[in-house]
Amino acid sequence: MGRKYNFYAGPAILPYEVMKKAQEELLDFNGIGFSIMEISHRSKDFAKVIETAEAKIRALLGIPDNYSVMFLQGGASLQFAMIPMNLLKGGKADYVNTGSWAKKAIKEAKLFGKVDVAGSSEDKNFCYIPEVRLSPDAVYVHITSNETIGGIQYHEFPDTGDIPLIVDMSSDIFSRRLEVSRFGALYAGAQKNMGPAGVTLVIMRNDLIENSADNLPSMLSYKVHREEKSLYNTPSCFAIYIVKLVMEWLEANGGLEAMEARNNGKAKFLYDAIDNLTLYRGTAAVKDRSKMNVTFRLTSEELEAKFNKEAEGHGLIGLKGHRSVGGCRASIYNAMPLQGVQELVRFMEKFEKENK
Ligand SMILES: Cc1ncc(COP(=O)(O)O)c(C=O)c1O
Repeated sequence: MGRKYNFYAGPAILPYEVMKKAQEELLDFNGIGFSIMEISHRSKDFAKVIETAEAKIRALLGIPDNYSVMFLQGGASLQFAMIPMNLLKGGKADYVNTGSWAKKAIKEAKLFGKVDVAGSSEDKNFCYIPEVRLSPDAVYVHITSNETIGGIQYHEFPDTGDIPLIVDMSSDIFSRRLEVSRFGALYAGAQKNMGPAGVTLVIMRNDLIENSADNLPSMLSYKVHREEKSLYNTPSCFAIYIVKLVMEWLEANGGLEAMEARNNGKAKFLYDAIDNLTLYRGTAAVKDRSKMNVTFRLTSEELEAKFNKEAEGHGLIGLKGHRSVGGCRASIYNAMPLQGVQELVRFMEKFEKENK
């Protein structure tokens, strides 16, 4: 059976070549006679996997030497708590409230110190990226670079001066070029642009780790994870292995510059269709539209349900919007080929003709 086009927001589509390679290596990794899933995380074979994954991540993002790369567990959701637990130390942080994910981050941070909401787009149902009003005494500023549910994205990051900018990049990391030195920390669950669920990437400036809180449980301490090179306990070995394959795929496909161009092209193609057809309406402010999660509505909920159902019949899967907001959402991460978006647009045109 052929693969269908999968527009799920996460866990999400992975590059076909990566799945194929994982399949080839599943029973016998690198000639060792069994799977990478079956060997010790302290073995030399796994050491090579995690070291290669880190080296490729560093090369692709151009991560400076004064940053650490950690492979943690607990999802991006645990980072909502670990960031303030480690860094806030009773102080105050600025958070920008751009939607569902930012809200969750704010809720956790409030458990560990004072939170100032330095900007919010709640007044318009989170359809745009708000301005930031920084507090001079904030320990850090936290933003969500791409709101996976609302479909809005920072196309330029705020200038926070000397205050570290900490970014939840769960749904757009590796989708474009970045200047890592502008950030205090970046973090992302793997299950959108990086690999399967189960591993969370944290990239953090070393001075922030060095000044982080002591006396935390080991599993919640950046100092411990950095010191132990992400091997304090058994990591998500298989997920890290797939991340390594995805990084190799990114490299082989031109790196982040090529990904950015490809993602710009796909997003434009889909938004142009939404704007030119009459049955569909984009929900995000045009200037802040996400290039990863394209959110749109049809003229009625009944029609949306029909659209999603018929799309499935055409092999276009996962177009239903998040249960909290309804509507439709096409997640077009790195691994979604342009042909997938073209198929979707063809279907949208056909559906419009039949339902006008
Ligand atoms: C932007 C963003 N942040 C955080 C999360 C939560 O990540 P996790 O499920 O890995 O905890 C998600 C989605 O899953 C997300 O899209």
